[in-house]
Amino acid sequence: MKFHLKTYGCQMNVSDSDIVRSILLADDNNNNDKIEMDADILLTNTCAIRENAESKVWNRLLQLRRADTNNPIKIDGKQKNNNNSNQKKKKKKKHNKRIIGVLGCMAERLKEDMFKDGTADLIVGPDAYRDLPRLISALAPNDDDDDDDDEIQSLSMLEQAINVELSFDETYADIKPIRSNPNDVTAFVSVMRGCNNMCSYCVVPFTRGRERSRGMDSIVNEARILYEENNVKEICLLGQNVNSYHDRNGNSNNYKMKYKEGYNISNDGFSNMFRLRGGAGYYFVDLVEAVSDISPELRVRFTSPHPKDYPPELLSLMAERNNVCNHLHMPAQSGSSTVLERMRRGYTREAYIDLIDDVRTIIPDVAITSDFITGFCGETEEEHQQTLSLMEYVQYDQAFMFAYSMRGKTHAHRSMVDDVPEEIKSRRLQEIINIFRTNVQDRNIKEEVGKLRLVLVEGESRRSKEGSRQWRGRTDQNKSIVFPIPTNIELKAGDYAVVLVDEARGHTLKGKLLWRATMQGFNELGLGHHHNQSSDSNNLTIPSLLLNAMAAKL
Ligand code: SAH
Ligand code: SF4
Ligand code: F3S
Repeated sequence: MKFHLKTYGCQMNVSDSDIVRSILLADDNNNNDKIEMDADILLTNTCAIRENAESKVWNRLLQLRRADTNNPIKIDGKQKNNNNSNQKKKKKKKHNKRIIGVLGCMAERLKEDMFKDGTADLIVGPDAYRDLPRLISALAPNDDDDDDDDEIQSLSMLEQAINVELSFDETYADIKPIRSNPNDVTAFVSVMRGCNNMCSYCVVPFTRGRERSRGMDSIVNEARILYEENNVKEICLLGQNVNSYHDRNGNSNNYKMKYKEGYNISNDGFSNMFRLRGGAGYYFVDLVEAVSDISPELRVRFTSPHPKDYPPELLSLMAERNNVCNHLHMPAQSGSSTVLERMRRGYTREAYIDLIDDVRTIIPDVAITSDFITGFCGETEEEHQQTLSLMEYVQYDQAFMFAYSMRGKTHAHRSMVDDVPEEIKSRRLQEIINIFRTNVQDRNIKEEVGKLRLVLVEGESRRSKEGSRQWRGRTDQNKSIVFPIPTNIELKAGDYAVVLVDEARGHTLKGKLLWRATMQGFNELGLGHHHNQSSDSNNLTIPSLLLNAMAAKL
């Protein structure tokens, strides 16, 4: 059987799709097909975070069903249902139908409702992917089905199959993900699943279940193999609440256990409402340290964190280690303490600002990014202004901004009113987008232009064309940067390059390649984390002698 898999939603879904691919390919003769209508099984990994995420999926499912009806599966160049016998035609038609499967968060949220109007045949939630082969074979026509057996085969076939069981311990730790692009020099490694935070607007705790962490050894092993055998130079540790990672078993012989009973990872002013916290085991800081120990040439990032889990130990580690990237995602959601309280975020504006100030002191040259929601239940103009002022204060390097969309099952759905009119939500959204864009432009001109950045080359830019070919990559601060491919320096994806930033457009930078480097070499020259380069492009603090020496090497 050939399957096709399309993924919507966040990075967790992308990573889960790699697990699904692995599970399906391990099973007998399944093949992954890149061309949708050549496949027998059409899988969509879905997102339920906002209503518009779901509408996209509904549209796609309808489209797939229509395409399948109009263009049945072909066998030996013939349409399978062009059969002469009437009786068989009926039977075969059933067999010819492609299996349309819904995976992920919408499957979990809507369960059987996704069978509505015959849009889907298969529904599988995020913790049930190991069951996919069984569910598919229950739906699929049997390959050996011989004409005589048709009657019996069809009786044993199911029309619909579903498994939306959530789990307390599934982490797919033993499954080796199969990436959709195995040549990528960056890779995500899933370290925990689920979320216990219950922010009042958010559906994730209901679609992803309880928080659970994968054993540290299996994570470090996966990362090591990616680095040593697959040319991966950057690992992004992944979890819905990645920095609340806690491997309670902590039974590895390889790592010392530093934190004992009673350890509290949250900073002052941040609460952990629903969590069994503390206790022995490995914490996120231990994990980051262990992964960054794999090699000084391997970059480590993580996403998506929660501001409550940034203990001083983690910030210091980030500051000390050159290969742990200087980028912190600090999803604020709102700048108003009253909104934050209604959102059940567990912190106030003041606590958040204190943390930002600490971060900037401990990790100079850090990039800070955030998520924001506008028009949450009861949001007043004044509360909205607080968000604008927080954005002014922090000067984010990147922000993901959304208009509030009420979701079933959430606390807000049960006990609040979605009372901010759509046009006000979108006007406020536009305001925060504008303020973010203006600030990031100014900030990049001030902070980036004129600096030397170590860039991990990811590949050729999409805008690259004959005559003006361009590389693309990302800086330590996670900023995209493009620069012309020079004829005199050989460079390939996975190399580090020293690039002089000479232009900032929004949050994308442009630059000039100076030399190919290693991370250690860059840091030995004093250009890494601790070096405070002047940001004035006419007044570089990089000794000109050094620059000349480097230029001579090109
Ligand atoms: N676990 C992550 C990300 C969760 S979803 C975290 O806590 O940061 C990504 C973002 O979607 C959230 O940060 C939030 O800004 C947004 N979001 C979540 N629920 C939403 C809703 N109901 N309406 C609009 N945006 C929402
Ligand atoms: Fe949703 Fe909050 Fe959990 Fe993030 S921390 S996934 S916003 S409930
Ligand atoms: Fe969407 Fe599920 Fe991710 S709701 S944002 S795909 S965890």
